Amino acid sequence: MNTGRQGSVPNTKLPNPTTWWQTGIIYEIYLRSFQDTTGNGIGDINGVRKRLDYLKWLGIDILWMTPPYKSPQVEFGYDTADYLAIDPVSGTLADFEALLMEAHQRDMRVVLDIAPNHTSDQHEWFQDSRSSRDSRHRDWYIWKDAGPDGGPPNNWVSAFGGGSAWELDPATGQYYYHAFLKEQPDLNWQNPEVAKAIFNCFRFWLDKGVDGFRIDVMWHLVKDTRFRDNPPNPNFDPKTEPSNNVLQEVYSADRPEVIDLVVRMRDVLKEYEGDRLMIGELYQSGARLVDFYGPDGRGAQLPHNQQLLLQPWDAPKIRDAAEKYLGSLPDDFWPNWVLSNHDKPRIATRSGSQAQARVAMMLLLTLRGTPTMYYGDELGMENAEILPDELRDPFEKLDPGKGQGRDPQRTPMQWNADSNAGFTTGKPWLPVADNSQQLNMETLKNDPASMLNFTKRLIELRRKQPALSMGDHRLVITDVQGPVIAYSREYESEKFLIALNLSSTPATFPLPTGCNQATVILSTLEQDTSPTHDKQVSLRGNEGLILKCD
Ligand code: NOJ
Repeated sequence: MNTGRQGSVPNTKLPNPTTWWQTGIIYEIYLRSFQDTTGNGIGDINGVRKRLDYLKWLGIDILWMTPPYKSPQVEFGYDTADYLAIDPVSGTLADFEALLMEAHQRDMRVVLDIAPNHTSDQHEWFQDSRSSRDSRHRDWYIWKDAGPDGGPPNNWVSAFGGGSAWELDPATGQYYYHAFLKEQPDLNWQNPEVAKAIFNCFRFWLDKGVDGFRIDVMWHLVKDTRFRDNPPNPNFDPKTEPSNNVLQEVYSADRPEVIDLVVRMRDVLKEYEGDRLMIGELYQSGARLVDFYGPDGRGAQLPHNQQLLLQPWDAPKIRDAAEKYLGSLPDDFWPNWVLSNHDKPRIATRSGSQAQARVAMMLLLTLRGTPTMYYGDELGMENAEILPDELRDPFEKLDPGKGQGRDPQRTPMQWNADSNAGFTTGKPWLPVADNSQQLNMETLKNDPASMLNFTKRLIELRRKQPALSMGDHRLVITDVQGPVIAYSREYESEKFLIALNLSSTPATFPLPTGCNQATVILSTLEQDTSPTHDKQVSLRGNEGLILKCD
């Protein structure tokens, strides 16, 4: 029996958003792949400037830009050699200042990605640190003697490749710790001078007017002071999982003390006007993710919620993850949602079809909270095929065949049907996807029925109808819940029903209590055949609907 009961989710007392990072839409720009302006095949800051009008047209409010700082680019900017300089491959400081000004002129914000857990081994701090055991910066990194067996100090493994995370440095005969590549030594956040130095780097950019930071691997910053061995992971599946999952990250990361550090970081942002934003890169869930908001919300305003990205595209799993997340948030904390990022496969690929990519976009943009989308998702860009000799990601080279290589989701933005998709006049650092002739911004912009124009309409609707971004969220339980996710959004007298069919089979369910008749406002398919739904909602296969309830 179809009952159309309404489930209740304890999210009705959340404050209504008043600030830019609550009402805005975040767009991640993977800088190397967005727009090249020099012909060297690598995206740059001036490329972002060139595309600001496009982003404004689309309806984006907040740009999250991957690290532009000086770097040997072994890890494409996540290996910082100088936090206070722009890498020549990305442009100049003047380019960055111009970007900031031009974005602000358009009422857009710029959030900088920054990796304070580790530097490049080329950073002068590390160069000094490794030079002798009593160098000024020795203790800025994590140095240890060999373990009792003459090998690495403990069993911690690197996230890239799963080998020991300790590297023996012959110059001084000690090991240094690197959670990622050996070219990315971890900073020692137990040393107060490290905090002081990094906080000053934050201030350098905040003084220039950046609107906030995305803190890379926030949960990694603090390690066990006793450096105890991590326990084995009993559920490890070597066939599918990256090799580092062989151990549980109990002592090497996600220490309880990290929250205190997150609060201290946020305090630096609070020295500035304008409600500067701290986003935390996190993959935690439930109560542990909530911890990163800090006591009384004094931590990250947006600890990234990656649940939509970690689940397979399966209605019960997505629905449960979303509802658990919303249910776990205390009243005062603002939710956020990430659909794709540069570390995980693209949504158009994960969801299995272009039609489902639209359904996913409708989900992202109608959930309560701040959405983060990834460049090219508005076009339905898919993971591209990368030939073995075109692989660039060090992760893939170190841990091949686990489906974890990240190049396929980092291919150049598809701007037009020209060769190299209008991304570069040179040779792109990663190949352009094969479908760029058809699937590109200019072609899609001219097609009113395209994914791009659909995304734009969705954003416009979200902006016009506060219920969709800030309204109360209530799950609608239906007996067709297998492939369907349905929820209502309500604000003042406006009530909307969102119904998403994650399968290709049509589905029907009764209108929930309090909704006698529903009129279609937007469908993911070209047009809805029955704009008014009486007593029940009928979804075509692969259809998502936004309906207004009367
Ligand atoms: C998280 C970043 O998102 C990822 O791309 C990078 O590889 C690691 N941090 C290490 O810096």
